[in-house]
Amino acid sequence: LAGATAAAALPALGAASRAQAQMATPRLPPGFIWGASTSAYQIEGAVKADGRAPSIWDTFSHTPGRIADGTNGDVACDHYNRYAADVDIIANAGFRAYRFSIAWPRVMPQGTGAVNTAGLDFYDHLVDRLLERGVAPMACLYHWDLPQALQDRGGWHNRDIANWFADYARVTVARLGDRVQPWAMLNEPSVHAIFGHGFGNHAPGLTGWASYVTAQHHQNLAQGTAIAAIRAERRDRALGTVFSLQPIHPSSNTPQDIAAASRFDACWNTINLDPLFLGRYPAEFEPYFAPLIQANDMAAIRVPVDFLGVNYYGPSFIKHDPSAFLAQAGYGAVPPGTPRTLLGWPIDPNGLVQVLARLRDHYGNPPVYVTENGACYEDPAPAGGVVQDPERTAYFREHLDACARAISQGCALEGYFAWSLLDNFEWAEGKRRRFGVVHVDFDTQQRTPKASLQFLSQLMRA
Ligand code: NOJ
Repeated sequence: LAGATAAAALPALGAASRAQAQMATPRLPPGFIWGASTSAYQIEGAVKADGRAPSIWDTFSHTPGRIADGTNGDVACDHYNRYAADVDIIANAGFRAYRFSIAWPRVMPQGTGAVNTAGLDFYDHLVDRLLERGVAPMACLYHWDLPQALQDRGGWHNRDIANWFADYARVTVARLGDRVQPWAMLNEPSVHAIFGHGFGNHAPGLTGWASYVTAQHHQNLAQGTAIAAIRAERRDRALGTVFSLQPIHPSSNTPQDIAAASRFDACWNTINLDPLFLGRYPAEFEPYFAPLIQANDMAAIRVPVDFLGVNYYGPSFIKHDPSAFLAQAGYGAVPPGTPRTLLGWPIDPNGLVQVLARLRDHYGNPPVYVTENGACYEDPAPAGGVVQDPERTAYFREHLDACARAISQGCALEGYFAWSLLDNFEWAEGKRRRFGVVHVDFDTQQRTPKASLQFLSQLMRA
């Protein structure tokens, strides 16, 4: 991201949002990277354009009963056709960086083999537009939209996927790597394994412990294999990956709940962190991974990364639950009085400090970007050219304060990306659940800034 120039004019602020911004004084150091974040399937739409083939999310979202409001990503934010104007929104707001993901089924529609040049052209144009507007692109190679053709060959259960992914990564970086920096391999592999391959409430809708473990190991392996493949071509790429990290608390003080929380922590957090940084799986789960691990796998996974992306939303409270597929650990009661977002997710800005301190103390303090942080609330309709979202604004303010605290405590935090630029297709929740700092009217595709965007603009400028 180094070298990004400050973006152009900031939107004018109303008196109310100015006052709000002055209240907030998170102080981030000079050079701190400010960005916004999105992912391909959640915003692009145009699912049949220019040779794109279906992904597992196309299949899943078109399966009746899978998405809470019956929507899908066929059109989403129509970003594929509106990217130029969306980049203007990013730049005019004052973001200096933008994290997006690349759709594997646009680049290699069958997942392997033939490359679809037209699919790569889209990202080429997006990247050029970002650079023209002084915004540094950060690309993520996999944000959950596996080509359906690969799912038909076993998807993340097929060990060959490590090489399939590495080939796709090499081709994509070869085309865009002269302008994009840095590159993230995977988005939230543990979440993709748990929800997509264990609970089954995300694509591809697979269930059970063995399915989860297999998808988890092969993602770890693919991540390391791709990093090595990209580095074999050129050594100067900034390469990393993105994990969802959160503090896991027991929902009561019983020994059973405390033990369950520790198992859940292993499945959510250390199942990704330990292999990447320490070259091993959490001890209690090694027996389950052992049958999958071949000679050299752990060395292939433990590769140096130039940065780690951290997606942080809040902590989880976990109880012992014999019926839970995930190591008999399930979601338990949240302490009374804990503030929560519309999705019921507990809010705890200090949890972000804890997560970053864990990386500092146990994983060698790697350079970190918060690659996602944000909140879902019921927003009012646009009025007077703005959407008032005071709760989301407060959420950002508190979490940016937490970023400042973490930096003052020696964490190597280098930037922050708000989730999300736009209201979008929120996976199993559909379009009814909104995380954007820009409101999207899905009937007209009209974009309207929210007060939280104006808050961030003011803060970034300050
Ligand atoms: C993390 C995921 O990466 C993103 O796709 C999702 O929309 C947000 N969490 C909010 O649920």
